[in-house]
Amino acid sequence: MINIGVIGCGQWGPNHIRNFSSMEEVRVLMCADLNRDRLKAMKQQFRTIHPTNRFQEILNHPRIQAVVVATPTATHFNLVKAALMANKDVLCEKPLCLDERQAKELIRLAQKKKRILMVGHVFLYNAGIQKLKELIQKKSFGRIYYLHSERTNLGPFRQDVNAVWDLAAHDVSIFNYLLNAEPIEVSARGGIYLQKKIEDVAFISLVYPKNILVSIHVSWLDPRKVRQITVVGDKHMLMWDDLDQTGPVKIYDRQVVQKYYYETFGEFQLLAKEGTITIPKVNLSEPLKAQANAFIAAVRKRKSPLSDGRSGLSVVRILKAVQKSLAKRGVPVRLQ
Ligand SMILES: NC(=O)c1ccc[n+]([C@@H]2O[C@H](COP(=O)([O-])OP(=O)(O)OC[C@H]3O[C@@H](n4cnc5c(N)ncnc54)[C@H](O)[C@@H]3O)[C@@H](O)[C@H]2O)c1
Repeated sequence: MINIGVIGCGQWGPNHIRNFSSMEEVRVLMCADLNRDRLKAMKQQFRTIHPTNRFQEILNHPRIQAVVVATPTATHFNLVKAALMANKDVLCEKPLCLDERQAKELIRLAQKKKRILMVGHVFLYNAGIQKLKELIQKKSFGRIYYLHSERTNLGPFRQDVNAVWDLAAHDVSIFNYLLNAEPIEVSARGGIYLQKKIEDVAFISLVYPKNILVSIHVSWLDPRKVRQITVVGDKHMLMWDDLDQTGPVKIYDRQVVQKYYYETFGEFQLLAKEGTITIPKVNLSEPLKAQANAFIAAVRKRKSPLSDGRSGLSVVRILKAVQKSLAKRGVPVRLQ
């Protein structure tokens, strides 16, 4: 039996409690929040859980082996550090923290204490994103030219971090995973409309190795909920649409071919080659549940999960660079 404690029972924490509670040989013994109304609501929803307003009670509990941190981002570092110091395995919500040095400290601490440190980059456990990865990895897919994503909605609005740290954290984790690389340069422009000093919208450009260009548009001030990624390659093109009922992934067998006119050597024409659109089968499941399963597997096997501390650090480093570029109104920022 693996006993869990969840710190943070706001909008997202209860989803963790629900998923872990539904798993075999896993029990959510305790949950913590500073807000007593949230604790009351948790007790009503999950009858057997023991709520507390002091997270330290979870860390002191001898039978709790693993902790989920689902509090606002600025609190992650201190809570994760305290949990690791208390010898707990940790699943921390994205982004891991707000600073590279803090992320490195957490990774070192987890190593020293031989604890699992996982970051909730939930889209890496999304079956549609995994299908994209599978398709891109095939030799027959050919070369990737560029990718772009759109992640928009009207709300929910955050007051602790901007739309980059809240929303683009997902896209950056996805692109790092799909391309198995990190960008070498970023630039971004953002717009502040609803609150002081907090960007509601951002247009981000990233340059990955092999000259692969990535564009990310995030906004919580948009009329439509969109969760889409397009991958453009020389032989195939892919679309991922998380909200598409017919299937989240579409393979467009379309490409551009160069037709040479041999009589006038050197001249050629670019022709669009049409092909079929295929919707591959994707076994859909709740990504947060798949993430919970991956965490429990890591805890049981003592093996690093896909979204480990290092991938969390990488996202933090990139978001920091994006933030720097935002502050300089789009000036490109190089990453080491
Ligand atoms: N993976 C996803 O798709 C996804 C979706 C939503 C939120 N999140 C992440 O989850 C985290 C929480 O987001 P949310 O929307 O639930 O925020 P929220 O503000 O609704 O809830 C946070 C809760 O944490 C509590 N809290 C703050 N400090 C605490 C402390 N020291 N001890 C105990 N409780 C404390 C607050 O009282 C609040 O109830 C954030 O990191 C966010 O980025 C991830």
